[in-house]
Amino acid sequence: MARVEQIFATSLYSAPIGGGRVKSFLEELRVACRAIQQEDGAGQRWSDEAGYKGYTSYASLNDLPVRNPTFAELCDRLVPHLVEFATSVDFDMRGLTPQVDSIWINVLEPGGTHTGHIHTNSVISGTLYVDIPPGASAIRYEDPRLAMMMAAPPRRARAAAHNRNFIYVQPTPGTILLWESWLRHEVPVNMADEDRISVSFNAVLM
Ligand SMILES: [Fe+2]
Repeated sequence: MARVEQIFATSLYSAPIGGGRVKSFLEELRVACRAIQQEDGAGQRWSDEAGYKGYTSYASLNDLPVRNPTFAELCDRLVPHLVEFATSVDFDMRGLTPQVDSIWINVLEPGGTHTGHIHTNSVISGTLYVDIPPGASAIRYEDPRLAMMMAAPPRRARAAAHNRNFIYVQPTPGTILLWESWLRHEVPVNMADEDRISVSFNAVLM
């Protein structure tokens, strides 16, 4: 009897952040993102020069958890999620724990986009969604084998998730997404009338 197995799976983790007083924590985080955006002139300039429509602290600040205790709390809240994901993909962690080693703010204005990329020098990457107005962009993941599919027929419109070449995930506030850092992803145009605010991070085994 024939069987078709799924092999070489690509895992995407999603969970509510949890950990208690979620609503007030997200509000603290939103306020902190806006305060840091206001004071980070270098980041504003970098975003302008790089054509990032909005603001990111990615290139300007590497000390958010020291700068603001809300980000330190976020790093702590992320650890159980990172452990669960790492366990689910069977990493042999050899006594180490996945921990956030870089974290940054993304404020994507209406009409803004973030083109396809991977996160280098990292094991697990992810995003916590803070402020997602109606119509805000999804995140789009690309099948890592796409470059090998020159002769493959297109997939049916109603293909199963594991057979699609692209997966769109519509975020909601308070949701964490985690994936292995080599997985290419992008944020299509933000069609909302307001800014889309998220906090992204990289984690390594420490
Ligand atoms: Fe990214």
